[in-house]
Amino acid sequence: MPVITIASPKGGSGKSTTSVILGTEMAHAGAEVTLLDCDPNRSITLWASRSALPPRMAVLSHVSESEIVRTIKQQDADGRIVIVDLEGVASRLVSRAISQADLVLTPMRATTLDATIGVRALALIAEEEEALGRSIRHAVVFTMTRAIKSKQHTAIEASLKGQGVDVIVPPLMERAAFSALFEFGGDLRSIPAQGRMDGATENAAAFAQEVYKRLVEASQ
Ligand SMILES: Nc1ncnc2c1ncn2[C@@H]1O[C@H](COP(=O)(O)OP(=O)(O)O)[C@@H](O)[C@H]1O
Ligand SMILES: [Mg+2]
Repeated sequence: MPVITIASPKGGSGKSTTSVILGTEMAHAGAEVTLLDCDPNRSITLWASRSALPPRMAVLSHVSESEIVRTIKQQDADGRIVIVDLEGVASRLVSRAISQADLVLTPMRATTLDATIGVRALALIAEEEEALGRSIRHAVVFTMTRAIKSKQHTAIEASLKGQGVDVIVPPLMERAAFSALFEFGGDLRSIPAQGRMDGATENAAAFAQEVYKRLVEASQ
């Protein structure tokens, strides 16, 4: 089963939020999902402690540099979708998690500063590809975007696409429901309503579907 690594050296770019949205959507769609919390800040572990985990979901906390490869392989062999949430750094742990991935997602706010730092994840992926002698499927997902696309967003997206970078559409919009996941735990269906829930649920489902498409392509 696929291994999805969520990596960006930029803190606050939406990695943990992307991990939880993707994990809960895939579990809702019927997959068995394990979230690996590899960030010492433990966002995923905190999320998991807020309420009972949704059906078909598991969380492994405190996964360190020495255990990461073994842990990923074990979960993968058990037929589970593995999603790895990482700290916003470049480290050996991050490189190892990238090396095991079928797909690396780099969440990024669509601002010049965030994109400049975020694209360093692409260099890390290229280094692993070189070391492994294989290509690693990867994509950028814009996070916390507004309903009306900024000029900066349009320019950054065009620049990435011009460089051949896969950009996932739809982006993850800025939504109270997405940040509330960490307040209440659980998934979009279990948390108390925050704003327009159907909009958030549709956005999350469409995003997860696009990720799933790439996993199918990567396995062919
Ligand atoms: N799509 C979104 N809509 C609303 N808030 C978001 C969204 N994505 C992230 N956030 C908020 O932004 C902050 C940073 O997000 P987080 O996922 O923790 O980033 P990272 O894991 O990269 O450090 C958190 O407070 C989170 O709740
Ligand atoms: Mg995080």
